[in-house]
Amino acid sequence: MGRGLLNDRVAIITGAGSGLGRCVALEYADEGATVALIDRDRAGLAQTQAELERRGRPGLSYPLDVTDYEAYRAAIADVVQRAGKVDILVNNAAIARYGTILDDTLEDWRETLRVNLEAVYMGTKLTVPFMVERRFGRVISTASIQGFLSSGGCGAYNAAKGGIIALTKSLAVELAPYNIAVNAVAPGFMRTPMSVIDGVDETTTEDFQTWYVQKRHIPMARTGYPEDVSGAFVFLASDYCRYMTGQVLVIDGGLTSTF
Ligand SMILES: NC(=O)c1ccc[n+]([C@@H]2O[C@H](COP(=O)([O-])OP(=O)(O)OC[C@H]3O[C@@H](n4cnc5c(N)ncnc54)[C@H](O)[C@@H]3O)[C@@H](O)[C@H]2O)c1
Repeated sequence: MGRGLLNDRVAIITGAGSGLGRCVALEYADEGATVALIDRDRAGLAQTQAELERRGRPGLSYPLDVTDYEAYRAAIADVVQRAGKVDILVNNAAIARYGTILDDTLEDWRETLRVNLEAVYMGTKLTVPFMVERRFGRVISTASIQGFLSSGGCGAYNAAKGGIIALTKSLAVELAPYNIAVNAVAPGFMRTPMSVIDGVDETTTEDFQTWYVQKRHIPMARTGYPEDVSGAFVFLASDYCRYMTGQVLVIDGGLTSTF
């Protein structure tokens, strides 16, 4: 159980039907927050909701696509109506499409940018007016180490995550006068459904294990899990984070500290 770090807070979390988003939603609930879950995957959302109910902390669930502006707007309005306010927004939903500039498609580029960057802008734009009213807010977006480094083969994903980092800085400057802190988290490798490519979890392959684990290109010599990363989201949403804005917390087992 938590320590009540988010007592009486209301948090909206996108991509809450799987992986990191689910983990953050459960930790926020454990810390006392009322959580509103958003995901386009109904089954995943129902599973997160069931886990919340098992903890005796049922949340609000919104099965929707974050690129659907009207559905997203209506969901945020519903959260404010039911829970009375929104204190925290976690922009976390994302997709990964693979291909180099030689073989990817404009459709994949546009879809990736729509989900991974434009929806971050939209969700933030729709939510912050409610935070401005109350002169309190926390916006936390999931970036990636792929926002400033690249493994190649996912340029649209790289561009979107880099865009999140730049947008985080701009929002931090614009929203600081309203006591709204805006930060991002950049995970390294995490074992989640997103790390499964063509049916194979990339963190379990021989190449990954040899390069990153045995040769310690991840100095902590293992892949990460959502539980290794979610604590940063708790910190950034809590009152311990009151003089930090526009920053990116990198959580990668040391991957970007070595070469
Ligand atoms: N897994 C990793 O190695 C890794 C590394 C760095 C950053 N990240 C980031 O972490 C975040 C969470 O990813 P994850 O690893 O938990 O992946 P995941 O695939 O398990 O979860 C992503 C969730 O987002 C939802 N989603 C996708 N598009 C949506 C849309 N248009 N509308 C609503 N919901 C949508 C999916 O249904 C899914 O439930 C993402 O922002 C991802 O880019 C992941």
